[in-house]
Amino acid sequence: MCGIVGYIGKNKRAKNVVINGLERLEYRGYDSAGIAFSNDNEIVIQKEEGRISNLKNNIDFNKKSNIAIGHTRWATHGVPSKDNAHPHKCNKITIVHNGIIENYIELKEELKKLGYTFNSETDTEVACALLDYLYKDKKNINLAIKEFQKLTKGSYAIGILCDDDLDSLYAIKKNSPLIIGVNDNENYIASDVPAILDFTNKYITLEDGEFAKITPYNVHVYDSFDEVVKEIKQFEGSIEDINKNGYEHYMAKEINEQPEVFKKMATIYIDSSSDNIISNMPDLSNYKSITIVACGSAMHAGLIGKNLIEEYGDIPVNVEIASEFRYKKLFINKDSLVIAISQSGETADTLEAIKIAKEKGCDTLAIVNVNGSSISRVVSKVLYTKAGPEIAVATTKAYSAQTTLLSFIAYSLAKNSNDKNKLSEISSFLNDLNKLPIQMREILDNEKYYKEIADHISKNNDIFFIGRGIDYALCMEGSLKLKEISYIHSEAYAAGELKHGTISLIDKGTPVIGIVTDKKIADKTISNIKEVKSRGANVIYITTDELSKNGDFYDIKITIPKTNALLQPLLTILPLQLISYHVAKNRNCDIDKPKNLAKSVTVE
Ligand code: AGP
Repeated sequence: MCGIVGYIGKNKRAKNVVINGLERLEYRGYDSAGIAFSNDNEIVIQKEEGRISNLKNNIDFNKKSNIAIGHTRWATHGVPSKDNAHPHKCNKITIVHNGIIENYIELKEELKKLGYTFNSETDTEVACALLDYLYKDKKNINLAIKEFQKLTKGSYAIGILCDDDLDSLYAIKKNSPLIIGVNDNENYIASDVPAILDFTNKYITLEDGEFAKITPYNVHVYDSFDEVVKEIKQFEGSIEDINKNGYEHYMAKEINEQPEVFKKMATIYIDSSSDNIISNMPDLSNYKSITIVACGSAMHAGLIGKNLIEEYGDIPVNVEIASEFRYKKLFINKDSLVIAISQSGETADTLEAIKIAKEKGCDTLAIVNVNGSSISRVVSKVLYTKAGPEIAVATTKAYSAQTTLLSFIAYSLAKNSNDKNKLSEISSFLNDLNKLPIQMREILDNEKYYKEIADHISKNNDIFFIGRGIDYALCMEGSLKLKEISYIHSEAYAAGELKHGTISLIDKGTPVIGIVTDKKIADKTISNIKEVKSRGANVIYITTDELSKNGDFYDIKITIPKTNALLQPLLTILPLQLISYHVAKNRNCDIDKPKNLAKSVTVE
């Protein structure tokens, strides 16, 4: 997703701060980059297609600037090109924009009638021309911004420079994240805090409908009527959190942070001295149903939650892809709890889905990783995953933290259930929980073994994952991890469903990863594995030491420790993450910034 960074300050390090910030935002995914800065009271724009390094090489950092805005563009309207790259300038107004102006075509036609011409295919250039027209009309940038907010539909985070007032940096926000970094004698704007963490950890969050006038010494924020007082927050995280700390990729670092993340989650949500053991958890036992809305891996975590909450919490759970949920007939009501799961807390479809749930009168809860993110600000309850900043586009530690929280929710509900069998099944929860980080570390430390397995399948073009129940949910996440970073086509299939068509794709040597961790259905899944093996598949069999069976139905067997059913997915996912990582490495893929992908999809 696009990244925005802006600077205004007496220390005149605008170019350095903006380019450094854009590099910190690279993980969000982009295809072009640009910067606009003051030069002897003129605005100069430089932009390039491709990586930020293409831009950086052409900038003269010896010539100092006191104000600049920069942008990394993830193409939505118009192909990746220099013309379509931001910033865009129209007469006295220069802007960078993240989001979509949904009515840009009508606005473009009106502006053409007023004599405006356009060089790019972007909605952003239209927004820039509209601001210029309104500024000429109102002769006041604040009034022009207020009128802009009335005339435009869609989502936008916009940084603005006005030729007539280069002592101020302006910013507007609606349905796309934007923060204001505060410091001594200089201030900043950015899509999120890690972009400016090298300079400050203090920031102000702009809300939808607000805009700001920022000088080196002050930040004035206005809503549609007057100036509003804003709290200055302190970012929970450090530079360490957003550096690789010796790992080759952020993804490798974040995979290896998972035991620590689990321990941190346990310190927040587990109180071994209390009867219920789970703490800081709202009581969810009165809801007649739960609907989970999410996208991608967050939706896959939701599928794990569905399995665990239904099995142990006895509450029906429906998992909805947020982009589908938004446009379908809904049967939720005040007896339903709707849970939004989102690492970034900014995913447009998930944000809109949870707003729809609120309109339907449902209670809403968010499981998010970013404090103060948009989704966390619209729900009635928030449970933070505390995974720390996740930089790699392919989520690992945040997915595990989401799964951890859903496991704790299932356990807190199970404690109220009177199903003695279920309770005895999870009676060792606390003991198993304390052992889990050690078991996770054991798996992660065996990385060489998973690299060898990756070597085994890296040249294939199609790889299948099969499992049943919670193992099928894990297949979904394992398949997505492989696809998004190695670009190998992969499918996750309910093991019992394969023979209803897709088994026709199984040829000699086709890799099939079969996951078997649920004792109740192990034999069924093993017979499905035998079906593909007998048709020549190259089977990688992932199971627990308790279920591990020798036989001729697999080529490679991965045995992981057996733990509490509520915690097992947190071990099973690790080999899938490591295998995907090493397959992508073998294929020389851009692991932290996979092609076409963005870390946070803030557009529909
Ligand atoms: C997962 O590896 C992907 N990066 C993607 O599926 C992601 O989970 C999805 O876009 C949802 O993002 P969110 O958790 O920030 O809402």
